[in-house]
Amino acid sequence: MCSSINIYRIGVDEADRFSLLVKTMWREAKETGSLLGWSGATDEIIEELTSKDVVQEILSQNMVYVAEIEGNLVGFAALRFLSGEEGEVAGIMVMERHTGKGIGSKLFRNVLEAARKAGLSRLIVKTEKDNHRAISFYKKMGFKLIGESVEKTSGTEVDIVILSMNL
Ligand SMILES: CC(C)(COP(=O)(O)OP(=O)(O)OC[C@H]1O[C@@H](n2cnc3c(N)ncnc32)[C@H](O)[C@@H]1OP(=O)(O)O)[C@@H](O)C(=O)NCCC(=O)NCCS
Repeated sequence: MCSSINIYRIGVDEADRFSLLVKTMWREAKETGSLLGWSGATDEIIEELTSKDVVQEILSQNMVYVAEIEGNLVGFAALRFLSGEEGEVAGIMVMERHTGKGIGSKLFRNVLEAARKAGLSRLIVKTEKDNHRAISFYKKMGFKLIGESVEKTSGTEVDIVILSMNL
């Protein structure tokens, strides 16, 4: 476990900081060949996703929590509202060198608490079928597998699994 970790909800005013985190994670994943869970992603897609306008929209429409260690952001988890009843974990990522230390669990606990406070009764999450680490993580958090599908991400067809949790 990591004692000096700070988790907080990041707001639109820190869009640049969040954008830098995503870009850094993308660059490091490419350099180290580690799995980010974004098969369809390309430099162009990441560039678009991390543009100021898009990031500001993401941060205003979702509840995004970040993990900070000694002043540096090392991961995030996002809660997207699908309806008044249902939410989606719209991404959870921890920098590879900080994985396995309980940071993902802490980020998820913040999402869970926010979902409960918002009165949601169900959380879902979609992840790639071959992302065994993520599936194992979500099952440990209490999710159950409810289905499979094929989704198109920027032209690439990806096999995904859907997991759900009643709140
Ligand atoms: C999935 C992810 C967020 C987990 O974050 P983390 O900080 O490493 O997770 P934790 O240390 O809190 O682990 C919690 C539990 O997840 C499971 N888990 C974590 N890493 C695992 C691994 N390598 N293999 C199997 N299970 C694993 C375990 O059950 C673990 O509990 P334990 O420590 O009691 O065994 C992280 O691996 C990650 O960022 N992966 C890349 C991005 C990604 O695939 N995101 C999901 C799809 S969007």
